[in-house]
Amino acid sequence: MNAPKGILMHSREREIECLAHRSLSVKSNRNCVAVFFLAAAIVLPAFAQSGADNYKSKCLMCHGVDGLAATNVGKAMKVTSFKDPAAVKATDAQLFAAIKNGKGANMKPYAGKLTDDQIKSLVAYIRTLQK
Ligand code: HEC
Repeated sequence: MNAPKGILMHSREREIECLAHRSLSVKSNRNCVAVFFLAAAIVLPAFAQSGADNYKSKCLMCHGVDGLAATNVGKAMKVTSFKDPAAVKATDAQLFAAIKNGKGANMKPYAGKLTDDQIKSLVAYIRTLQK
C-alpha cells in the first residue's frame, strides 16, 4: 500500500502546483488534468483489490466459489463450510485470527502474505457468502 499512497501524495503535490499554475496558462492546466486522471487510473485498481479479488485468487480453490467447500479439494482437505453454524456464529475477530494465524493442518496462516486490512476485507467478503 506504500506505492498508491506515494502516488496520492504526489498527486497532492501536483494539485498544489497546479493551483499555483492555474492563473498562468491554460496549457499547463490541461497537463494537470491529465496527471489527475493518470493518478486515479493507477490508484483505483489498488484499492479495488478487495476481499472478493483476494478470495478468488487465494481461497476459492479450497473454500469454493460459494464458501461451501463442496469442491474436490475442499472435501479432500475437510474444509468446513462458511455456512456451518460454527462459522456463522464465529466473531469477526475469530475469523480474522483463523486467516491470520491459520487453523488446523490445512488452513495455513496468511500473516505476512496479507495485510490486516486485506484480511478484514476477506472477513467482510466471507460474511456475504454466509447470507
Ligand atoms: C489449502 C486449502 C485452503 C486454502 C487455500 C484456504 N483455506 Fe481456509 N480453511 C481450510 C481448512 C481445511 C479449514 C478448516 C480448518 C479447521 O477447522 O481445522 C479452513 C478454515 C478457514 C476459516 C475458519 C472457519 C471457521 O469455521 O472457523 C476461515 C475464516 C478461512 N479458512 C478463511 C480462508 C481465507 C480467507 C483464505 C484465503 C486467503 C483461505 N481460508 C484459504 C483450507 C484452506
